[in-house]
Amino acid sequence: MVLLDVLIIGNGGREHAIAIGLNNSKSIDNIHVAPGNVGTYEIAVNHDIDISKSENITNLASKLNVDLVIIGPEMPLVNGIADELKKININCFGPISKWANLEGSKKYAKELMKSLNIPTAEYVLISEVSNNHEILEYFNPPWVIKRDVLAGGKGVKVTSDKIIAISSINDAIISDGYVLVENFLMGEEASILVMMDESDYVCLPASQDHKRLLDNDEGPNTGGMGAYAPAPIITPSVLQRVEEEIIKPMHHFLRNEDNPYRGCLYVGLMIDDDGAPNVVEFNVRFGDPETQVTIPLISSDLGELFYSVSSGKLSDYEIKFHKLSSATVVLASKNYPDSPTTGDLIYGYEVVIDEGEINAFIHYSGTAKNEQGLYISSGGRVLSATGVAPTLRDAVEASYQIINNITLSGSYFRSDIASRAFRR
Ligand code: AMP
Ligand code: GLY
Repeated sequence: MVLLDVLIIGNGGREHAIAIGLNNSKSIDNIHVAPGNVGTYEIAVNHDIDISKSENITNLASKLNVDLVIIGPEMPLVNGIADELKKININCFGPISKWANLEGSKKYAKELMKSLNIPTAEYVLISEVSNNHEILEYFNPPWVIKRDVLAGGKGVKVTSDKIIAISSINDAIISDGYVLVENFLMGEEASILVMMDESDYVCLPASQDHKRLLDNDEGPNTGGMGAYAPAPIITPSVLQRVEEEIIKPMHHFLRNEDNPYRGCLYVGLMIDDDGAPNVVEFNVRFGDPETQVTIPLISSDLGELFYSVSSGKLSDYEIKFHKLSSATVVLASKNYPDSPTTGDLIYGYEVVIDEGEINAFIHYSGTAKNEQGLYISSGGRVLSATGVAPTLRDAVEASYQIINNITLSGSYFRSDIASRAFRR
């Protein structure tokens, strides 16, 4: 078997999780990460480049002569990195810019869903500033106001206050030219990461993110404060509906285009009390922290999986999963998400749990090394502790054992990760 050299783009916990998965793959030889972080530094070669410029990535991929580039964040995809890698015949896991629009433009995603009859919230587009937006009479509060910009989930305002709704709508129109207002969907959220190319699609175990900063889903929206998988809200019958009503129509559309989708389609869902799914959002990449709980559940060779998708040969690959559960708890810096404090020393991160089927370890994100080689905080989400175990309770307990051992001045983590699963 020819071993593969791979380049991962990104610097978060998601990319650390992918690097760990590839490090355990028999198909992989060398792992490179750009720019990477202190976690990927331990198992791969980090390359400090500016990934906002596609040519920096293509130059590095050519110089390293890698077989495959895996794109973590959305920005390089929206910038067209998959299109550029295709021109130089290097495999890319991640879709071309045309499909990256599914995440880059909520208007495009909504219009496509409408044309394919995919269930999603009703919406209107508003482009005129007014002090009396009539749309607020059609939809019941709370109103969901979405700017059509890449804002990492922070371009969405959910409010029942009419004055705030009107000013959010007007502010968005002034800066972007138009805004989307959506019907509020009731229910429970879940995410399904779908591996997809023209030959097939495969759903990874469903997960549930915790987007709000504080326990009981209070406080501001964040990049994600923790996750667990498999999420029991996605029962076999709900999954069947998601596949029939959402994933199959998307796959049918994307596979039949000249340049088919090759990568991970993140399907963000709201499931109502009757088990009916609605799409909240599509992302064109792995989620963070959903990846940290999903990758450890894949038992087949991860390198082969990524390579198969990037070459349009997913149907030849047999995916297998461990019969385990996983949970991850994010440690955030003081004042995250507004103005995170950085530069503080982190203690107690050496502990791991390795007890047969119960394992727990750290995925790094906003952590750096200071001049003395000690770990310090360098971002809002500093690290996450991930537990994997035969039961979700054990996985959660293991992740909290690790996180409770860590000291970082003013830091914060949610104490209720996966509690929804236990309420069911
Ligand atoms: P988005 O960036 O579209 O995923 O929105 C960010 C978050 O806002 C979602 O994860 C939901 O929690 C919430 N949200 C977005 N759209 C809706 C909706 N139509 N109904 C209820 N909540 C929503
Ligand atoms: N955790 C949500 C996201 O990655 O978009």
